[in-house]
Amino acid sequence: MQFPNDVLAVLADQRTEIRHDQVRVPFELDRPLYEKVDVTLKDMGGRWDGRGAVRAHVFPYRIEEFMRQCLAAGEYPSRSEQGWYATPPALARQIVDAAGVYAGHTVLEPSAGAGALVGEITSRGGLVDAYEIDERRADILRGRGDCRRVFAGDFLAQDPMEYAEGFDRIVMNPPFSNGLDHILHALQFMKDSGHLVSVMSAGLMWWSDRKSTEFRELVEEVGGEIELLPEDSFAVSGTKVRTCLVFVPGYPGGRLRTHDWLMRQPLQLGLFDIAA
Ligand SMILES: C[S@@+](CC[C@H](N)C(=O)[O-])C[C@H]1O[C@@H](n2cnc3c(N)ncnc32)[C@H](O)[C@@H]1O
Repeated sequence: MQFPNDVLAVLADQRTEIRHDQVRVPFELDRPLYEKVDVTLKDMGGRWDGRGAVRAHVFPYRIEEFMRQCLAAGEYPSRSEQGWYATPPALARQIVDAAGVYAGHTVLEPSAGAGALVGEITSRGGLVDAYEIDERRADILRGRGDCRRVFAGDFLAQDPMEYAEGFDRIVMNPPFSNGLDHILHALQFMKDSGHLVSVMSAGLMWWSDRKSTEFRELVEEVGGEIELLPEDSFAVSGTKVRTCLVFVPGYPGGRLRTHDWLMRQPLQLGLFDIAA
């Protein structure tokens, strides 16, 4: 998304304070321009904190380097374009509690954004491999220094068989637009003994297409749960979309397509590998 010229001028102004996780504009703007700056900063992932001591747009990550790159390019990756809605801290704690992450667990975060879930996981001693399609957010993840590995790229294009073994836990809040594709792909990275916990659009609870229906049946079959989250769960991140929490426990020997399930499948005959 291109910055409007007048917003770019305000953000690049020497007087604008861009520090740590905050952006503060300490000089007066006329109302229409103020509103444009506000909309842009919110679309970049910030939220307005009007408390006396703050009075700034606050981001769920350090904003300086990210903003420097965006201002240099004259554009930014908007949340609406990329489905980036950071998990609010209380919900991140609830999700990681539900996943039961303990020290030494290997954990996959396949759409890690700026690391809202990563921070909760690593604070409990989880060893995280994180994927993020947006290069700038991947840089933020690397800069945090708490992941075991960070991959900048499309998780849906990642082959689970490149891992010798599955993960103990999968914790995720994928883009709302194709969340179920992300969940089904992520299950292929999980051990049979693992757990997957994911935020999803609440529509998954009632959508009648075949993929959603079969997924609900599968969740029930393995003793999992799909629970509606409160209406305002993502309000601080700038969206009113209704969400649910999906919990899928591993189910040894069942038809859940986990990493172990894939490993149990007979190898394809290498018909074209025959030596000449
Ligand atoms: C709803 S946000 C959640 C971010 C983070 N998981 C959190 O909880 O704060 C979804 C993130 O997935 C990223 N994303 C979208 N498609 C992706 C893909 N195919 N592979 C990896 N990341 C992707 C977006 O850039 C965005 O940062």
